Amino acid sequence: MKEKNAAEIHFYTQKGEAYQSLSSLQKHLFTGELLSAYWDISKGEPVLMIGLGEEALEAIQIKEVAAKAAKECQAKKIGNSVLFVDEILTFCGKEHLIDVLEGLYLGGYQEPKFTKEKEDISEPSFEIKSTLFTEEELSLAKEKTSVLCASIKKARDRVNAPANRLTPEIFAREVQEEFKNLNVEVTVFTKEDLIKMQMDALLTVGDSAQNPPFLVILTYKGDEAKEESIGLVGKGVTVDTGGYCLKTPGSMKGIRGDMAGGAAVIGALHALAKNKVKTNVIAAIPMCENRISSGSFLTGDVISSYSGKTIEIGNTDAEGRLILADAVSYLTENKKVSQILDIATLTGAVVNLLGFTIGGLICDNEQFYQEFMEAANKSGERYLRIPFYKEHEKMIDSQVADVKNISEQGCGTITAGLFIRRFAGKTPWLHLDIAGTAWTDPAVFEFQAKGATGAAISTLYYLAGGEII
Ligand code: BES
Ligand code: ZN
Ligand code: ZN
Repeated sequence: MKEKNAAEIHFYTQKGEAYQSLSSLQKHLFTGELLSAYWDISKGEPVLMIGLGEEALEAIQIKEVAAKAAKECQAKKIGNSVLFVDEILTFCGKEHLIDVLEGLYLGGYQEPKFTKEKEDISEPSFEIKSTLFTEEELSLAKEKTSVLCASIKKARDRVNAPANRLTPEIFAREVQEEFKNLNVEVTVFTKEDLIKMQMDALLTVGDSAQNPPFLVILTYKGDEAKEESIGLVGKGVTVDTGGYCLKTPGSMKGIRGDMAGGAAVIGALHALAKNKVKTNVIAAIPMCENRISSGSFLTGDVISSYSGKTIEIGNTDAEGRLILADAVSYLTENKKVSQILDIATLTGAVVNLLGFTIGGLICDNEQFYQEFMEAANKSGERYLRIPFYKEHEKMIDSQVADVKNISEQGCGTITAGLFIRRFAGKTPWLHLDIAGTAWTDPAVFEFQAKGATGAAISTLYYLAGGEII
Protein backbone atom coordinates (compact mmCIF):
# COMPACT_ATOMS: atom_id res chain seq x y z
CA MET A 1 0.00 0.00 0.00
CA LYS A 2 1.57 3.28 -1.09
CA GLU A 3 -0.24 5.76 1.11
CA LYS A 4 0.06 4.77 4.76
CA ASN A 5 -3.11 6.47 5.95
CA ALA A 6 -4.45 5.66 9.38
CA ALA A 7 -8.01 5.48 10.66
CA GLU A 8 -10.08 4.54 13.66
CA ILE A 9 -12.90 2.02 13.37
CA HIS A 10 -15.88 1.89 15.75
CA PHE A 11 -18.90 -0.39 15.81
CA TYR A 12 -22.32 0.89 16.85
CA THR A 13 -25.40 -0.95 18.02
CA GLN A 14 -28.49 1.12 17.30
CA LYS A 15 -29.76 0.92 20.87
CA GLY A 16 -26.36 1.51 22.44
CA GLU A 17 -25.33 4.63 24.31
CA ALA A 18 -22.68 5.57 21.75
CA TYR A 19 -25.12 5.57 18.89
CA GLN A 20 -27.84 7.32 20.88
CA SER A 21 -25.48 10.15 21.79
CA LEU A 22 -24.74 10.99 18.16
CA SER A 23 -26.19 14.22 16.82
CA SER A 24 -29.36 13.96 14.76
CA LEU A 25 -27.41 14.93 11.65
CA GLN A 26 -24.95 12.12 12.28
CA LYS A 27 -27.81 9.67 12.85
CA HIS A 28 -29.28 10.83 9.59
CA LEU A 29 -26.02 10.12 7.72
CA PHE A 30 -25.26 6.92 9.59
CA THR A 31 -28.32 4.77 10.29
CA GLY A 32 -26.52 2.19 12.43
CA GLU A 33 -28.33 -0.57 10.56
CA LEU A 34 -26.53 -3.87 10.13
CA LEU A 35 -23.64 -3.39 7.67
CA SER A 36 -24.19 0.36 7.29
CA ALA A 37 -20.92 2.26 7.05
CA TYR A 38 -20.03 5.92 7.40
CA TRP A 39 -16.74 7.80 7.26
CA ASP A 40 -16.60 10.68 9.74
CA ILE A 41 -13.81 13.08 8.77
CA SER A 42 -14.84 15.94 11.02
CA LYS A 43 -12.09 15.23 13.57
CA GLY A 44 -9.13 15.23 11.16
CA GLU A 45 -8.20 11.56 11.35
CA PRO A 46 -10.87 9.54 9.53
CA VAL A 47 -13.21 7.50 11.70
CA LEU A 48 -15.08 4.60 10.15
CA MET A 49 -18.43 3.88 11.80
CA ILE A 50 -19.98 0.47 11.19
CA GLY A 51 -23.55 -0.36 12.14
CA LEU A 52 -24.55 -3.53 13.96
CA GLY A 53 -28.32 -3.04 13.89
CA GLU A 54 -30.34 -3.81 16.98
CA GLU A 55 -30.33 -7.57 17.39
CA ALA A 56 -27.55 -9.82 18.69
CA LEU A 57 -25.54 -11.20 15.79
CA GLU A 58 -24.49 -14.72 14.89
CA ALA A 59 -20.91 -15.63 13.92
CA ILE A 60 -21.47 -15.16 10.18
CA GLN A 61 -22.84 -11.63 10.65
CA ILE A 62 -19.98 -10.66 12.95
CA LYS A 63 -17.53 -11.84 10.32
CA GLU A 64 -19.47 -9.77 7.81
CA VAL A 65 -19.33 -6.49 9.72
CA ALA A 66 -15.61 -6.94 10.31
CA ALA A 67 -15.06 -7.81 6.64
CA LYS A 68 -17.03 -4.72 5.71
CA ALA A 69 -14.56 -2.65 7.75
CA ALA A 70 -11.63 -4.30 5.96
CA LYS A 71 -13.19 -3.65 2.55
CA GLU A 72 -13.91 -0.01 3.40
CA CYS A 73 -10.30 0.53 4.49
CA GLN A 74 -8.98 -1.18 1.40
CA ALA A 75 -11.16 0.90 -0.89
CA LYS A 76 -9.97 4.10 0.82
CA LYS A 77 -6.33 2.88 0.78
CA ILE A 78 -6.09 3.07 4.55
CA GLY A 79 -3.02 1.04 5.51
CA ASN A 80 -3.29 0.90 9.30
CA SER A 81 -6.35 1.17 11.48
CA VAL A 82 -7.12 1.01 15.13
CA LEU A 83 -10.22 -1.05 15.72
CA PHE A 84 -12.28 -0.69 18.90
CA VAL A 85 -14.05 -3.99 19.58
CA ASP A 86 -15.57 -3.63 23.07
CA GLU A 87 -18.98 -2.55 21.82
CA ILE A 88 -19.38 -5.43 19.39
CA LEU A 89 -18.02 -8.01 21.84
CA THR A 90 -20.17 -6.90 24.77
CA PHE A 91 -23.15 -6.89 22.44
CA CYS A 92 -22.51 -10.35 20.94
CA GLY A 93 -20.21 -12.20 23.39
CA LYS A 94 -16.49 -12.14 24.05
CA GLU A 95 -15.90 -15.43 22.27
CA HIS A 96 -16.74 -13.72 18.98
CA LEU A 97 -13.33 -12.03 18.90
CA ILE A 98 -12.40 -14.88 16.54
CA ASP A 99 -15.12 -13.86 14.10
CA VAL A 100 -14.10 -10.22 14.18
CA LEU A 101 -10.52 -11.19 13.40
CA GLU A 102 -11.54 -13.66 10.68
CA GLY A 103 -13.69 -11.04 8.98
CA LEU A 104 -10.85 -8.52 9.09
CA TYR A 105 -8.33 -10.92 7.59
CA LEU A 106 -10.63 -12.34 4.91
CA GLY A 107 -12.49 -9.19 3.88
CA GLY A 108 -9.59 -7.84 1.85
CA TYR A 109 -9.10 -10.98 -0.26
CA GLN A 110 -9.36 -10.64 -4.00
CA GLU A 111 -9.11 -13.40 -6.57
CA PRO A 112 -5.67 -13.54 -8.21
CA LYS A 113 -5.21 -11.98 -11.63
CA PHE A 114 -2.72 -13.16 -14.18
CA THR A 115 -2.01 -9.88 -15.91
CA LYS A 116 1.45 -8.80 -17.12
CA GLU A 117 1.48 -5.82 -14.80
CA LYS A 118 0.75 -6.69 -11.18
CA GLU A 119 -1.81 -4.61 -9.33
CA ASP A 120 -1.11 -3.45 -5.78
CA ILE A 121 -3.66 -5.31 -3.71
CA SER A 122 -1.84 -5.37 -0.37
CA GLU A 123 -4.28 -5.81 2.48
CA PRO A 124 -4.90 -3.33 5.31
CA SER A 125 -3.56 -4.03 8.80
CA PHE A 126 -5.31 -3.53 12.13
CA GLU A 127 -4.49 -2.83 15.74
CA ILE A 128 -7.17 -4.16 18.09
CA LYS A 129 -8.24 -2.22 21.16
CA SER A 130 -10.21 -4.02 23.85
CA THR A 131 -10.53 -3.86 27.63
CA LEU A 132 -11.97 -7.40 27.63
CA PHE A 133 -8.65 -9.11 26.85
CA THR A 134 -5.03 -8.63 27.90
CA GLU A 135 -2.50 -7.49 25.29
CA GLU A 136 -1.04 -10.98 25.31
CA GLU A 137 -4.39 -12.64 24.71
CA LEU A 138 -5.09 -10.26 21.86
CA SER A 139 -1.77 -10.79 20.15
CA LEU A 140 -2.03 -14.58 20.47
CA ALA A 141 -5.56 -14.57 19.02
CA LYS A 142 -4.39 -12.31 16.19
CA GLU A 143 -1.47 -14.57 15.41
CA LYS A 144 -3.51 -17.78 15.40
CA THR A 145 -6.35 -16.30 13.36
CA SER A 146 -3.99 -14.84 10.83
CA VAL A 147 -2.47 -18.31 10.36
CA LEU A 148 -5.92 -19.83 9.86
CA CYS A 149 -6.95 -17.08 7.45
CA ALA A 150 -3.69 -17.33 5.49
CA SER A 151 -4.55 -21.01 4.97
CA ILE A 152 -8.06 -20.08 3.82
CA LYS A 153 -6.69 -17.50 1.38
CA LYS A 154 -4.11 -19.93 0.03
CA ALA A 155 -6.89 -22.48 -0.56
CA ARG A 156 -8.96 -19.82 -2.33
CA ASP A 157 -6.00 -19.03 -4.59
CA ARG A 158 -5.62 -22.71 -5.45
CA VAL A 159 -9.29 -23.25 -6.17
CA ASN A 160 -9.37 -20.06 -8.27
CA ALA A 161 -6.26 -21.10 -10.21
CA PRO A 162 -6.96 -22.06 -13.84
CA ALA A 163 -6.53 -25.75 -14.64
CA ASN A 164 -3.52 -25.11 -16.88
CA ARG A 165 -1.75 -23.40 -13.99
CA LEU A 166 -2.58 -26.03 -11.38
CA THR A 167 -2.11 -29.49 -12.87
CA PRO A 168 -1.98 -32.49 -10.52
CA GLU A 169 1.81 -32.42 -10.70
CA ILE A 170 2.09 -28.69 -9.92
CA PHE A 171 -0.44 -29.16 -7.09
CA ALA A 172 1.48 -32.09 -5.57
CA ARG A 173 4.89 -30.40 -5.78
CA GLU A 174 3.52 -27.16 -4.38
CA VAL A 175 2.14 -28.99 -1.36
CA GLN A 176 5.49 -30.70 -0.83
CA GLU A 177 7.17 -27.29 -0.81
CA GLU A 178 4.51 -25.72 1.42
CA PHE A 179 5.06 -28.18 4.28
CA LYS A 180 8.85 -28.26 4.12
CA ASN A 181 9.39 -26.18 7.25
CA LEU A 182 6.48 -27.56 9.21
CA ASN A 183 6.16 -30.68 11.34
CA VAL A 184 4.29 -32.52 8.59
CA GLU A 185 5.58 -35.51 6.68
CA VAL A 186 4.69 -35.36 2.99
CA THR A 187 4.64 -38.43 0.75
CA VAL A 188 4.01 -37.93 -2.95
CA PHE A 189 3.03 -41.05 -4.86
CA THR A 190 3.60 -40.70 -8.61
CA LYS A 191 1.77 -42.62 -11.32
CA GLU A 192 4.49 -45.31 -11.25
CA ASP A 193 3.95 -45.75 -7.51
CA LEU A 194 0.18 -45.86 -7.97
CA ILE A 195 0.55 -48.63 -10.55
CA LYS A 196 2.62 -50.71 -8.10
CA MET A 197 0.09 -50.03 -5.35
CA GLN A 198 -2.81 -50.99 -7.64
CA MET A 199 -4.68 -47.74 -7.04
CA ASP A 200 -6.86 -48.70 -9.97
CA ALA A 201 -9.79 -46.33 -9.48
CA LEU A 202 -7.53 -43.28 -9.22
CA LEU A 203 -5.47 -44.54 -12.18
CA THR A 204 -8.61 -45.07 -14.26
CA VAL A 205 -9.69 -41.45 -13.93
CA GLY A 206 -6.10 -40.21 -14.19
CA ASP A 207 -5.54 -42.11 -17.44
CA SER A 208 -8.12 -39.91 -19.15
CA ALA A 209 -5.55 -37.13 -19.33
CA GLN A 210 -2.00 -36.52 -20.45
CA ASN A 211 -1.12 -34.96 -17.10
CA PRO A 212 -0.64 -37.94 -14.78
CA PRO A 213 -2.39 -38.49 -11.42
CA PHE A 214 -0.77 -38.17 -7.98
CA LEU A 215 -1.63 -39.17 -4.45
CA VAL A 216 -0.34 -36.96 -1.65
CA ILE A 217 -0.26 -38.20 1.95
CA LEU A 218 0.27 -35.69 4.77
CA THR A 219 1.04 -36.89 8.28
CA TYR A 220 0.91 -34.50 11.21
CA LYS A 221 1.82 -35.91 14.60
CA GLY A 222 1.29 -33.05 17.03
CA ASP A 223 0.35 -35.38 19.89
CA GLU A 224 3.06 -37.99 20.41
CA ALA A 225 1.20 -39.53 23.35
CA LYS A 226 -1.67 -40.61 21.14
CA GLU A 227 -1.38 -43.40 18.63
CA GLU A 228 -4.47 -42.77 16.54
CA SER A 229 -5.18 -40.00 14.07
CA ILE A 230 -8.19 -38.52 12.39
CA GLY A 231 -8.17 -39.36 8.67
CA LEU A 232 -9.05 -36.62 6.17
CA VAL A 233 -9.54 -37.26 2.46
CA GLY A 234 -10.09 -34.42 -0.03
CA LYS A 235 -11.01 -34.59 -3.71
CA GLY A 236 -8.25 -33.15 -5.87
CA VAL A 237 -9.68 -33.16 -9.40
CA THR A 238 -7.83 -30.16 -10.86
CA VAL A 239 -10.25 -30.07 -13.81
CA ASP A 240 -13.47 -31.99 -14.45
CA THR A 241 -14.81 -31.90 -18.01
CA GLY A 242 -17.05 -34.88 -17.24
CA GLY A 243 -14.98 -37.14 -19.52
CA TYR A 244 -16.97 -38.88 -22.28
CA CYS A 245 -20.14 -37.99 -20.38
CA LEU A 246 -19.12 -34.47 -21.28
CA LYS A 247 -20.51 -31.56 -19.32
CA THR A 248 -22.60 -28.97 -21.15
CA PRO A 249 -20.91 -25.61 -21.88
CA GLY A 250 -22.98 -23.93 -19.16
CA SER A 251 -22.02 -26.46 -16.50
CA MET A 252 -18.30 -26.15 -17.37
CA LYS A 253 -18.10 -22.93 -15.37
CA GLY A 254 -16.01 -23.61 -12.31
CA ILE A 255 -14.66 -27.01 -13.42
CA ARG A 256 -11.20 -25.85 -12.32
CA GLY A 257 -12.52 -25.65 -8.77
CA ASP A 258 -13.09 -29.39 -8.42
CA MET A 259 -10.12 -29.72 -6.07
CA ALA A 260 -11.67 -27.55 -3.34
CA GLY A 261 -12.03 -30.54 -0.98
CA GLY A 262 -8.33 -31.32 -1.32
CA ALA A 263 -7.42 -27.66 -0.88
CA ALA A 264 -9.56 -27.52 2.29
CA VAL A 265 -7.83 -30.54 3.84
CA ILE A 266 -4.41 -29.11 3.02
CA GLY A 267 -5.42 -25.71 4.40
CA ALA A 268 -6.68 -27.15 7.68
CA LEU A 269 -3.52 -29.21 8.14
CA HIS A 270 -1.32 -26.22 7.43
CA ALA A 271 -3.10 -24.13 10.07
CA LEU A 272 -2.99 -26.97 12.64
CA ALA A 273 0.73 -27.55 12.10
CA LYS A 274 1.64 -23.87 12.07
CA ASN A 275 -0.34 -23.20 15.25
CA LYS A 276 1.26 -26.31 16.79
CA VAL A 277 -2.05 -27.87 17.77
CA LYS A 278 -1.77 -31.01 19.91
CA THR A 279 -3.49 -33.47 17.62
CA ASN A 280 -2.79 -36.16 15.02
CA VAL A 281 -4.06 -35.98 11.46
CA ILE A 282 -3.36 -38.11 8.41
CA ALA A 283 -4.62 -36.71 5.15
CA ALA A 284 -4.85 -38.17 1.66
CA ILE A 285 -5.42 -36.06 -1.43
CA PRO A 286 -5.85 -37.93 -4.71
CA MET A 287 -5.07 -35.54 -7.57
CA CYS A 288 -5.97 -35.99 -11.24
CA GLU A 289 -7.79 -34.55 -14.23
CA ASN A 290 -10.99 -35.87 -15.80
CA ARG A 291 -10.77 -35.38 -19.56
CA ILE A 292 -11.46 -36.94 -22.93
CA SER A 293 -8.70 -38.93 -24.64
CA SER A 294 -8.13 -42.33 -26.21
CA GLY A 295 -7.15 -43.49 -22.72
CA SER A 296 -10.36 -42.32 -21.07
CA PHE A 297 -12.64 -44.74 -19.28
CA LEU A 298 -16.13 -45.24 -20.70
CA THR A 299 -19.66 -45.85 -19.55
CA GLY A 300 -20.15 -49.59 -19.12
CA ASP A 301 -16.52 -50.24 -18.13
CA VAL A 302 -15.90 -52.37 -15.08
CA ILE A 303 -12.82 -51.15 -13.27
CA SER A 304 -10.93 -52.35 -10.23
CA SER A 305 -9.91 -50.41 -7.13
CA TYR A 306 -7.26 -50.35 -4.40
CA SER A 307 -9.61 -52.30 -2.12
CA GLY A 308 -10.05 -55.01 -4.75
CA LYS A 309 -13.76 -54.23 -5.12
CA THR A 310 -14.88 -53.84 -8.74
CA ILE A 311 -16.86 -50.82 -9.94
CA GLU A 312 -19.29 -50.55 -12.84
CA ILE A 313 -19.04 -47.15 -14.53
CA GLY A 314 -22.49 -45.71 -15.13
CA ASN A 315 -21.26 -42.18 -15.79
CA THR A 316 -17.73 -40.86 -16.35
CA ASP A 317 -18.69 -37.54 -14.74
CA ALA A 318 -19.08 -39.33 -11.39
CA GLU A 319 -15.27 -39.45 -11.10
CA GLY A 320 -14.78 -37.86 -7.69
CA ARG A 321 -16.16 -40.82 -5.74
CA LEU A 322 -13.82 -43.15 -7.65
CA ILE A 323 -10.63 -41.42 -6.62
CA LEU A 324 -11.93 -40.78 -3.09
CA ALA A 325 -12.76 -44.48 -2.73
CA ASP A 326 -9.12 -45.43 -3.31
CA ALA A 327 -7.79 -42.77 -0.95
CA VAL A 328 -10.29 -43.74 1.76
CA SER A 329 -9.35 -47.45 1.52
CA TYR A 330 -5.68 -46.54 1.56
CA LEU A 331 -6.04 -44.71 4.88
CA THR A 332 -8.42 -47.13 6.58
CA GLU A 333 -6.43 -50.20 5.50
CA ASN A 334 -2.91 -48.90 6.20
CA LYS A 335 -3.07 -46.21 8.88
CA LYS A 336 -4.38 -46.06 12.43
CA VAL A 337 -7.31 -43.74 11.83
CA SER A 338 -10.02 -43.56 14.49
CA GLN A 339 -12.39 -41.63 12.19
CA ILE A 340 -12.49 -40.92 8.48
CA LEU A 341 -13.84 -37.73 6.93
CA ASP A 342 -14.04 -37.19 3.20
CA ILE A 343 -14.75 -33.84 1.61
CA ALA A 344 -15.50 -33.04 -2.01
CA THR A 345 -17.26 -30.89 -4.58
CA LEU A 346 -19.15 -34.04 -5.36
CA THR A 347 -22.67 -33.55 -6.67
CA GLY A 348 -24.79 -31.03 -8.52
CA ALA A 349 -27.71 -32.45 -6.52
CA VAL A 350 -26.44 -30.91 -3.28
CA VAL A 351 -26.34 -27.48 -4.96
CA ASN A 352 -29.98 -27.87 -5.97
CA LEU A 353 -30.91 -28.91 -2.44
CA LEU A 354 -28.86 -26.57 -0.27
CA GLY A 355 -27.53 -23.81 -2.51
CA PHE A 356 -24.32 -21.91 -1.92
CA THR A 357 -24.34 -21.44 1.85
CA ILE A 358 -25.08 -24.86 3.36
CA GLY A 359 -22.83 -27.89 3.03
CA GLY A 360 -24.28 -31.40 2.75
CA LEU A 361 -23.25 -33.84 5.47
CA ILE A 362 -23.73 -37.60 5.76
CA CYS A 363 -22.48 -39.55 8.75
CA ASP A 364 -22.80 -43.06 10.19
CA ASN A 365 -21.63 -42.31 13.73
CA GLU A 366 -23.48 -40.15 16.27
CA GLN A 367 -20.44 -39.13 18.28
CA PHE A 368 -18.48 -38.11 15.19
CA TYR A 369 -21.47 -36.10 13.99
CA GLN A 370 -21.75 -34.29 17.35
CA GLU A 371 -18.04 -33.46 17.35
CA PHE A 372 -18.30 -32.11 13.84
CA MET A 373 -21.31 -29.92 14.63
CA GLU A 374 -19.53 -28.50 17.66
CA ALA A 375 -16.69 -27.50 15.37
CA ALA A 376 -19.14 -26.03 12.84
CA ASN A 377 -20.71 -24.07 15.66
CA LYS A 378 -17.33 -22.48 16.41
CA SER A 379 -16.60 -21.68 12.77
CA GLY A 380 -20.11 -20.42 12.05
CA GLU A 381 -20.32 -22.55 8.90
CA ARG A 382 -23.65 -24.15 8.04
CA TYR A 383 -24.13 -27.86 7.39
CA LEU A 384 -27.20 -30.05 7.09
CA ARG A 385 -27.17 -33.75 7.83
CA ILE A 386 -28.79 -35.81 5.09
CA PRO A 387 -30.10 -39.26 6.12
CA PHE A 388 -29.56 -42.59 4.40
CA TYR A 389 -31.28 -45.97 4.60
CA LYS A 390 -31.03 -49.50 3.19
CA GLU A 391 -33.07 -48.57 0.12
CA HIS A 392 -30.38 -46.07 -0.88
CA GLU A 393 -27.70 -48.75 -0.66
CA LYS A 394 -29.64 -50.79 -3.23
CA MET A 395 -29.49 -47.91 -5.70
CA ILE A 396 -25.75 -48.40 -6.21
CA ASP A 397 -25.78 -52.17 -6.33
CA SER A 398 -24.52 -53.44 -9.68
CA GLN A 399 -25.53 -56.50 -11.73
CA VAL A 400 -21.99 -57.06 -12.94
CA ALA A 401 -19.65 -55.56 -10.34
CA ASP A 402 -19.44 -55.03 -6.57
CA VAL A 403 -20.80 -51.49 -6.85
CA LYS A 404 -21.93 -48.96 -9.45
CA ASN A 405 -20.74 -45.33 -9.54
CA ILE A 406 -24.19 -43.80 -10.09
CA SER A 407 -27.76 -44.32 -9.03
CA GLU A 408 -30.43 -44.43 -11.70
CA GLN A 409 -33.17 -43.71 -9.16
CA GLY A 410 -32.10 -40.26 -8.01
CA CYS A 411 -30.81 -39.41 -4.51
CA GLY A 412 -27.60 -38.17 -6.13
CA THR A 413 -26.00 -36.76 -3.00
CA ILE A 414 -26.88 -39.69 -0.72
CA THR A 415 -25.76 -42.36 -3.18
CA ALA A 416 -22.48 -40.54 -3.92
CA GLY A 417 -21.75 -40.55 -0.19
CA LEU A 418 -22.75 -44.19 0.26
CA PHE A 419 -20.50 -45.19 -2.62
CA ILE A 420 -17.51 -43.78 -0.71
CA ARG A 421 -18.68 -45.35 2.55
CA ARG A 422 -18.33 -48.80 1.00
CA PHE A 423 -14.57 -48.22 0.98
CA ALA A 424 -14.25 -47.04 4.59
CA GLY A 425 -14.54 -50.45 6.27
CA LYS A 426 -15.80 -50.15 9.86
CA THR A 427 -14.17 -46.80 10.60
CA PRO A 428 -16.66 -44.11 11.73
CA TRP A 429 -17.30 -42.04 8.62
CA LEU A 430 -18.38 -38.48 7.89
CA HIS A 431 -18.88 -37.12 4.41
CA LEU A 432 -19.05 -33.47 3.30
CA ASP A 433 -20.38 -32.43 -0.07
CA ILE A 434 -19.23 -28.84 -0.65
CA ALA A 435 -20.17 -28.58 -4.34
CA GLY A 436 -22.37 -25.59 -3.47
CA THR A 437 -20.33 -23.87 -0.77
CA ALA A 438 -16.83 -24.04 -2.26
CA TRP A 439 -17.58 -21.56 -5.02
CA THR A 440 -19.75 -18.46 -5.14
CA ASP A 441 -20.55 -16.00 -7.92
CA PRO A 442 -21.45 -13.40 -6.87
CA ALA A 443 -20.23 -13.39 -3.26
CA VAL A 444 -23.02 -14.02 -0.73
CA PHE A 445 -21.24 -12.75 2.40
CA GLU A 446 -18.97 -9.74 2.94
CA PHE A 447 -16.04 -11.96 3.95
CA GLN A 448 -16.13 -13.71 0.58
CA ALA A 449 -14.98 -12.60 -2.85
CA LYS A 450 -16.47 -13.98 -6.04
CA GLY A 451 -15.00 -17.40 -6.84
CA ALA A 452 -13.48 -19.74 -4.29
CA THR A 453 -14.68 -19.42 -0.68
CA GLY A 454 -12.23 -21.57 1.29
CA ALA A 455 -15.18 -23.59 2.61
CA ALA A 456 -14.74 -26.05 5.50
CA ILE A 457 -11.17 -25.13 6.47
CA SER A 458 -12.04 -23.45 9.75
CA THR A 459 -14.50 -26.22 10.68
CA LEU A 460 -11.89 -28.91 9.98
CA TYR A 461 -9.37 -26.91 12.01
CA TYR A 462 -11.67 -26.86 15.06
CA LEU A 463 -12.71 -30.48 14.54
CA ALA A 464 -9.10 -31.59 14.79
CA GLY A 465 -8.68 -29.68 18.06
CA GLY A 466 -7.52 -26.27 16.82
CA GLU A 467 -8.23 -23.29 19.05
CA ILE A 468 -7.99 -19.54 18.74
CA ILE A 469 -8.99 -18.29 22.20
N1 BES B 1 -17.54 -32.13 -9.70
C1 BES B 1 -18.84 -32.57 -10.06
C2 BES B 1 -19.92 -32.05 -9.12
C3 BES B 1 -20.18 -30.56 -9.13
C4 BES B 1 -21.32 -30.08 -9.77
C5 BES B 1 -19.37 -29.68 -8.46
C6 BES B 1 -21.59 -28.73 -9.75
C7 BES B 1 -19.62 -28.33 -8.46
C8 BES B 1 -20.74 -27.84 -9.09
C9 BES B 1 -18.93 -34.09 -10.07
O1 BES B 1 -17.78 -34.74 -10.48
C10 BES B 1 -20.03 -34.46 -11.01
O2 BES B 1 -19.91 -34.14 -12.16
N2 BES B 1 -21.07 -35.10 -10.49
C11 BES B 1 -22.19 -35.51 -11.27
C12 BES B 1 -22.55 -36.91 -10.87
C13 BES B 1 -23.61 -37.55 -11.72
C14 BES B 1 -23.08 -37.82 -13.09
C15 BES B 1 -24.05 -38.83 -11.07
C16 BES B 1 -23.36 -34.56 -10.99
O3 BES B 1 -23.60 -34.23 -9.83
O4 BES B 1 -24.00 -34.13 -11.94
ZN1 ZN C 1 -17.67 -35.04 -12.57
ZN1 ZN D 1 -15.98 -33.68 -10.24
